[in-house]
Amino acid sequence: MSDTRSDDAALEHRLEQMLEIDSFPPPEAFRERALWSDPAIYEEAAADPVAWWTARAKELLDWDVEPSEGLDDSDPPFYRWFADGRVNASAQCLDRHVAAGLGDRVAYHWRGEEGERRDVTYAELLDSTQRFANALRALGVGKGDVVGIYLPMIPEVAVAMLACARIGAIHNVVFGGFSAESVRERMEFSQARALVTVDGARRKGRTAPVKRQVDEHLGDLPALETIVVVRATGVECPMTAGRDVFYEEVCAAADPDCPAEPMEAEHPLFILYTSGSTAKPKGILHTTGGYLTGVTTTHRYVFDLRPETDVWWCAADVGWITGHSYIVYGPLSNGATSVMWEGAPDHPHQGIWWEIVQDHGVSILYAAPTAIRTFIRWGAEIPGRYDLTSLRLLGSVGEPINPKAWLWYHEVIGGGRCPILDTWWQTETGAIMITPLPGITATKPGSATTPFPGIAADVVEERSGEPVAEGQGLLVLERPWPSMLRTLYKEDERFLETYFSRFGRGRYLVGDAARRDADGHLWVIGRIDDVVNVSGHRLSTAEVESAIVAHEKVAEAAVIGQSDPDTGQAICAFVTLTGDTEPSEELEAAVREEVATRIGKFARPKRIVWAEDLPKTRSGKIMRRLLRDIAEGRALGDVTTLRDPGVMAELEAQIAAEGEGED
Ligand code: WT7
Repeated sequence: MSDTRSDDAALEHRLEQMLEIDSFPPPEAFRERALWSDPAIYEEAAADPVAWWTARAKELLDWDVEPSEGLDDSDPPFYRWFADGRVNASAQCLDRHVAAGLGDRVAYHWRGEEGERRDVTYAELLDSTQRFANALRALGVGKGDVVGIYLPMIPEVAVAMLACARIGAIHNVVFGGFSAESVRERMEFSQARALVTVDGARRKGRTAPVKRQVDEHLGDLPALETIVVVRATGVECPMTAGRDVFYEEVCAAADPDCPAEPMEAEHPLFILYTSGSTAKPKGILHTTGGYLTGVTTTHRYVFDLRPETDVWWCAADVGWITGHSYIVYGPLSNGATSVMWEGAPDHPHQGIWWEIVQDHGVSILYAAPTAIRTFIRWGAEIPGRYDLTSLRLLGSVGEPINPKAWLWYHEVIGGGRCPILDTWWQTETGAIMITPLPGITATKPGSATTPFPGIAADVVEERSGEPVAEGQGLLVLERPWPSMLRTLYKEDERFLETYFSRFGRGRYLVGDAARRDADGHLWVIGRIDDVVNVSGHRLSTAEVESAIVAHEKVAEAAVIGQSDPDTGQAICAFVTLTGDTEPSEELEAAVREEVATRIGKFARPKRIVWAEDLPKTRSGKIMRRLLRDIAEGRALGDVTTLRDPGVMAELEAQIAAEGEGED
């Protein structure tokens, strides 16, 4: 056995030294055979971005009707792309590959939590999708109807999405970690006609009674006519006659042939709710042709994808945009073979990821920094037990990656030979926007580097909007791109207000701060709004606050994101109680439970600070800036605008007492 402790010390030392290296050029062996290795691609795209994107749309998609135009910008920012083209997303992802003789290719190597393995081929996925599409039709779902999907990471989640796309229904996937109450809200806002869910979902050896929870929270939604239940665990579940059906039964009864209906390029493909500055989630709307163009192009060229030989693994959940774009639509549209993993990174053991990489010969891994930091904590010795030589490329997504984690990923997982791609994008952008290209870009640990060809990102001065040549400012996207959101579902005004009011309709406000360095590379710093990023999960402080104040003993709450070594940011809540209620551990547990029920377990505050009062301006606005200062132990900023400056002294005393309690 090796001496783990001295190995760790040696690794630590090596990474420390590597922090001095400021740039990692593409390995020569990689560059030589990369799909794109000529930097002229950037100039080519910049010279005429619309023509460039249109060429990608035609290169990578098989249109039923080829578009005659690229961008319609007659009513900015309500852009339309490839508007007179017709294409069906499920046919792009399935039929064309099967028609090309690739029906036996594995679409997903599915791995279940309890060690199950299921390989799903393109032909099988097409068969299931056709049946379920017909089943949905038989249940009264048609083009333009919204279908909710609340499923764990099982192949049926892809089938459900593609079946919707096949008939022009708009899917609205809710991440399985959200509570049934959150599902209700999202179904209500979108007026969903049907919901596809499971009997129960497994997590680390336990089974959550999903269908029962759904019934408790969604039983009375008038628009929701049908609930389709996938029998994933066999756990007992209540079924309401006339409303609930089993997935397996309706598929078995369905006609196996369901020709894909060509859709207008701007036909809505899906809605995905994400958190914004207010408690009400935003329904990001994506359409068909532009979205498919964006995800197919970026998946192919950012990851230098060879569908014949690569094994792709995006270790996100389908319930987030990363999963929509890089587990379902991008990889399937490119005919790739993917791994789909149902479970947690430490079940049944802490080496499960690396066991999966070894078993399936994963060549490209796309993961979140929070996972990487967790693996660092568990030790390099664990991945060291597996053969990871199949890996040739590593991606990072969802939050800034600190240089130390970047280097660890590069050395320990990538064996020093795999380019690291730190990709920046958002639910709203649909596809990757800022990223290195592995055959071209010299990377720097911690920087997402430069915009993808055809994308114009800028760092601008907060007030004037003037571009910042070098230094910090607000990140903006200067030009429309095919996979951009089209609006917020049924909230055009809010769409304009959120993204296009600060700098006008010609410039998309991202909501992140960023820095541009002397080489023009971009370093994304974090959100400028009240959005918190916990383990790559996007949460609104307002949403968490409203869940906390729902507890009967709570008077007021203010939530901030506090920096956290594991999860990037963590939720810290300042809470005041009603009347003469005294703080207690039970109350703390109850408040956290309230958040779990209303939003989901992942949104529970890590830290609760009981407060007598909250710092407010004279007009009654809570000053979160001061709460952030105090939570992080920084010197307090300007307190002169406070209505009652004494509040801060009390809070400081409270925080000091919290510290003593820990000793
Ligand atoms: C926010 C978007 C990208 C899909 C998953 C998250 C942050 C995302 C990076 C990165 C620094 C990043 C930003 C962004 N973010 N990727 N590579 N470096 N920050 O999508 O839930 O819509 O969140 O995630 O703050 O605005 P999302």
